[in-house]
Amino acid sequence: MIGVKGKLSAEVLLEVKDLKTYFHLDEGVLKAVDGANLTVKRRKVLGLVGESGCGKSVAAQSILRIVPSPGRIVGGRILFYRGEDALDLATLDPFGDEIRNIRGREIAMVFQEPMTAFSPIHTIGFQIMEAILLHRDANKKEAKNIAIEMLHKVGVPNPAQRMNEYPHQLSGGLRQRAMIAMALSCHPALLIADEPTTALDVTVQGQILRLMKELQEEFGMSLIFITHNLGVIAEISDEVAVMYLGKIVEYGDVMEIFCNPLHPYTAKLLRSVPTVGRQIKTRLDSIPGSVPLPINLPPGCGFYERCSEAKPGLCNCEDPPLFEARPGHLVRCFRVGSSPLP
Ligand SMILES: Nc1ncnc2c1ncn2[C@@H]1O[C@H](COP(=O)(O)OP(=O)(O)O)[C@@H](O)[C@H]1O
Ligand SMILES: [Mg+2]
Repeated sequence: MIGVKGKLSAEVLLEVKDLKTYFHLDEGVLKAVDGANLTVKRRKVLGLVGESGCGKSVAAQSILRIVPSPGRIVGGRILFYRGEDALDLATLDPFGDEIRNIRGREIAMVFQEPMTAFSPIHTIGFQIMEAILLHRDANKKEAKNIAIEMLHKVGVPNPAQRMNEYPHQLSGGLRQRAMIAMALSCHPALLIADEPTTALDVTVQGQILRLMKELQEEFGMSLIFITHNLGVIAEISDEVAVMYLGKIVEYGDVMEIFCNPLHPYTAKLLRSVPTVGRQIKTRLDSIPGSVPLPINLPPGCGFYERCSEAKPGLCNCEDPPLFEARPGHLVRCFRVGSSPLP
């Protein structure tokens, strides 16, 4: 436990500092998360965005300490503030009681594919009840009532009957709702949603997104919402963190990021989002190239090869630090500033 100032813990729930999660592979060291910083405020939504392969899922797995082998946290801190103390989740035994008690109860996660959260051989009701019995002080009858109430809350019709169904009997959208019900049944302080709407068709995507926002507000919980889609981020987030090659390259208030993007990567991501009302003639830009595998990367800024504004001799030599462009608006780019954060 680390004693913290009351002011910080009152506003901040989770702080990730210089997190490094590497996979030691035969081909070399794959740096999936390589010095990432994130701040999750209480009762707020942090949108974590970046193209596929940027390290978003591994960052989420690191917080919950479920990084698959041979992945390992090799540096940094994951401070989880409870009351006056901060617990560094990065130091916990991933198989120990302490993180097991936090997982599901205080920090819950929903995934893109709900079948990974549910076992195919038990009913939805049984599985939600199991989670409640494990993490809450409830008997079987109370757990059943809580489960039915949660399914009702997430918009599953006839929840008492649906309790007896198996995951494969539900449509994709209903399965996603059931997974959200299971995740929220223990009233976590933080929910991590990793691309929860990506596999759904567009109308269902919108419904699930609105549901998550409503529940986040009603439960007063914090949410890390992970997506590769900036359009989705705009709808749900209070703050936005843009991730590229294991690092947060831009962070700030959602309006600030959308109106005044400063990192060339963020600007390009924004230009690749289709928006209602955009003139048909304006072409949607796609970002040239793709995210490289983070193994044996050359020195300098990770975005150098794909950046139209890079300065040779600077950007390919040194890794830019985080600059504070405006209060609360952080950018990892030499174009932006000259005085890095201490
Ligand atoms: N289990 C794993 N074993 C080896 N490499 C992995 C594993 N999971 C992710 N990676 C690698 O880590 C990097 C980040 O992946 P990921 O966090 O899944 O990206 P995102 O969620 O942003 O699409 C990628 O280069 C990916 O290939
Ligand atoms: Mg992912």
